[in-house]
Amino acid sequence: MKQLTKIGVIGAGNMGSGIVQKIAQEGLSVVMIDTQEIFVQKGLANIKSLLQAGVERRIFSPAQMAATLSRITATVDFNQVADADLIIEAVFEDKGVKTALFQQLDAICDEHTILATNTSSFYVREFAEKINRPDRFVGLHYFYHPAKNRLLEVIPHQGTSPATVEIAKMFAKLHGKTAITVKDAPGFAVNRFFVPFLNEATRMLEENLANIPTIEAAAKRAFKIGMGAFELMNVTGIPIAVHSADTLGRELGPFYATSVTLRKQMEKKENWDLSGQVDESKLEKIEDRFLGICLGVAAALVDEGVASVEDTDLGAKIGLRWVKGPFEIMNRIGITKTYQVVEAVALKYADFAIPEILKKHKQTGKPFDFRWVDMQAKDQVAYITINRPEAMNALNEAVVRQLEERFSEAESNPDIKGIVIQGAGKAFVAGADIRYFIQNIKNDRIDDIVAFTKGGHELLLRIENSTKRTIAVLDGLSLGGGSELALACQTIVATSAGSMGFPETAIGIIPGLGGMLRTARQIGTELAKYYVFTGRTISAQDAYDLGIVSKIINPQDLEKTILEICNGPIPDKYRSRKLPERFAELAKVCSPDNVKALLAGLKPEGISADLAEKTLKIISRKAPLALLKADELIDAQQKVTIPEAIDLELGELNYIFSTEDALAGLSSVGGKPPQYQGK
Ligand SMILES: NC(=O)c1ccc[n+]([C@@H]2O[C@H](COP(=O)([O-])OP(=O)(O)OC[C@H]3O[C@@H](n4cnc5c(N)ncnc54)[C@H](O)[C@@H]3O)[C@@H](O)[C@H]2O)c1
Repeated sequence: MKQLTKIGVIGAGNMGSGIVQKIAQEGLSVVMIDTQEIFVQKGLANIKSLLQAGVERRIFSPAQMAATLSRITATVDFNQVADADLIIEAVFEDKGVKTALFQQLDAICDEHTILATNTSSFYVREFAEKINRPDRFVGLHYFYHPAKNRLLEVIPHQGTSPATVEIAKMFAKLHGKTAITVKDAPGFAVNRFFVPFLNEATRMLEENLANIPTIEAAAKRAFKIGMGAFELMNVTGIPIAVHSADTLGRELGPFYATSVTLRKQMEKKENWDLSGQVDESKLEKIEDRFLGICLGVAAALVDEGVASVEDTDLGAKIGLRWVKGPFEIMNRIGITKTYQVVEAVALKYADFAIPEILKKHKQTGKPFDFRWVDMQAKDQVAYITINRPEAMNALNEAVVRQLEERFSEAESNPDIKGIVIQGAGKAFVAGADIRYFIQNIKNDRIDDIVAFTKGGHELLLRIENSTKRTIAVLDGLSLGGGSELALACQTIVATSAGSMGFPETAIGIIPGLGGMLRTARQIGTELAKYYVFTGRTISAQDAYDLGIVSKIINPQDLEKTILEICNGPIPDKYRSRKLPERFAELAKVCSPDNVKALLAGLKPEGISADLAEKTLKIISRKAPLALLKADELIDAQQKVTIPEAIDLELGELNYIFSTEDALAGLSSVGGKPPQYQGK
């Protein structure tokens, strides 16, 4: 795949400057262009002030801010992007202006340059048709504010080449975006149901159904969001809402057309007045109307093949920050209720028909089954992607079941040489779903946890012992079960963003998917204990130096590296190795005598006073029973075979999950750390 080293952004306004900021923040060089120096400088000033605010809130260091700014070239000279690999247009939403710009870029840019539009309301194909490189033209639709909102809609038109789509998705990943692939259709995916949500709020006001505060309260309740439709319009601008509804109405018919009240409000040039009392008695009716509109439209867009069920949900969760996506909401309220609220909308608006997908589900009565784990084969390699980026790809029963299904498909395919396991979005896999553990403990179903873990072990053993090469791509954070999944693969390749860690003893449990035994077999029991006891992060560089990671790569070299591994000898991850000197002191922290001391609340000896003190402090906050059990297991596991070591680990799960500390620790996630009782 072509390397993306130079990116251009045209337009230094609200969107353009935000896109530039995000690209530079994530380590890529970018050229920002506008028509006049004053606009370029305004864009740059916006970026500086946002970065400065980030420094004040300690999100970035001053050095990171300086480095980000150093990657930005701000200019009015279009020739500076002539050799760019990708150029994103973010100029006025004016067809003539955009078309002229693309023709200008088409004339001056290198053959390989990909052009992209951030249009919200035109078809991508309308611009592609006007240039000589339609195959290298794609839509990249960002969401406000583009330096903060992680969603990116990737919109190929019919003539966009597969290579361009691939590069667009790679680019999304490179600058920290979660991409969903969407058909070139009005409103693409998210605005298709978000704009009717805004519009319908104003129609309900127009119909005198309720006052603004009541409509706001119902919207918040329906989608578990912080701002209702009117407040959102006040923040993002009423003209944008009108413009977007106009586009949808023009392309899709009266159901989507802008309400009179919304247009009038724009003409008044005033924000909505949000004051007043909520009328509780009206909430349910309004909530149902909102649900009917959003769920109905979401189902319609899936019917039309605009986006998948999963991508539509991701769009809502990441782009709009809904707690659940439309299809998850349908599962929550049930298909009967869903059908009822959508049917009410269909009865009200003659040009809105009940989508086929809802009719089908009503007939079967079954909830939607989500595909959390995807697989794609390329060059004899199966790329398995855990695709729950909004939950940092956490492992739950459905994810593990689907991972097993995809893995079995890949393993039984004689054309496949290698199986890659990776996570969508920024994380690899952030452990197991904590809620699942809590629910089962509370329901007295610890046996279910053990059975789930046993199934996980079986899958991890198959991954470890596969006759195909199995490779984890650690290009983001991994924790607990995620690190254990990576450790089970025959090889791990990482990017500099990759990391591992075992936070379990801080939440009352122990690593339960072979993390202790596989780490100890690679780096020794003492260092393994150090990482399991402290939960300290193992960076990609540390993991590489320790021989856990086989290679640190530039994300763009991934496919090349995978092919090399698949064509090379089977790596022996349990080979004996000499650990770098810098880890010797950490290992000493957990020498047998020091472990005894630490578990008795005493300072370890033979190491620097600073490290001894720090470690003791960290360990004093961990669950004592979990520490004891981890200590015992790590020693015992090294004396037996891997399957026997797994049996030992499984044999202790019931005990650990039955402790009061386990429930207290697991329940504390996201809140105050608990005071462990050692019970
Ligand atoms: N604002 C949003 O929430 C949002 C969300 C997604 C997409 N978009 C789309 O992004 C695009 C930009 O929107 P915005 O809100 O940043 O607009 P904006 O008015 O803030 O900025 C547009 C910038 O483009 C510059 N410009 C105009 N013509 C140019 C040309 N020929 N060459 C170089 N620069 C030129 C202008 O000087 C201005 O600085 C629009 O297509 C819009 O539909 C906006």
